[in-house]
Amino acid sequence: MDERILVLNGPNLNLLGRREPEVYGRETLADIRRRVEARAQALGCQVAFEQRNGEGELVDLIQGLAEGWHGLVLNPGAYAHYSLAIRDAIRSVGVPTVEVHLSNVYAREPFRHRSVIAPVAVGVIAGLGPIGYELALEALLARIRG
Ligand code: DQA
Repeated sequence: MDERILVLNGPNLNLLGRREPEVYGRETLADIRRRVEARAQALGCQVAFEQRNGEGELVDLIQGLAEGWHGLVLNPGAYAHYSLAIRDAIRSVGVPTVEVHLSNVYAREPFRHRSVIAPVAVGVIAGLGPIGYELALEALLARIRG
């Protein structure tokens, strides 16, 4: 019950539910939060669930993980494809990170096929919808607990 995991969402994910539902589904971010919190309780860890639109705000939250946090589940949104600042922040704090995408980015536009975050992540889950967050949390904990 000791692990503290941050589940962090990037830009435009606050619009889930009404944003391109044919791509991202109908669940809202609040629905996903409920799922994640229920799964965290079942797995016996603590989670904080956050969303920010700004790159710098995301970097600030990631830097804060150095103060007693054990893992990060990150849906970077479009920043996945170009934010070296977020990549560097993850590397700097050295906290194990699983990258999540709701959609199958590899079945979409070519600019979504590349993630600059993936090389500093433990792994990536893409295309499985909201359950991807739960799977990421479970995989991260398995990794942390060894
Ligand atoms: C996304 C995929 C990104 O390419 C896109 O910019 C998003 C959402 C996903 O969850 O599928 O904002 O990260």
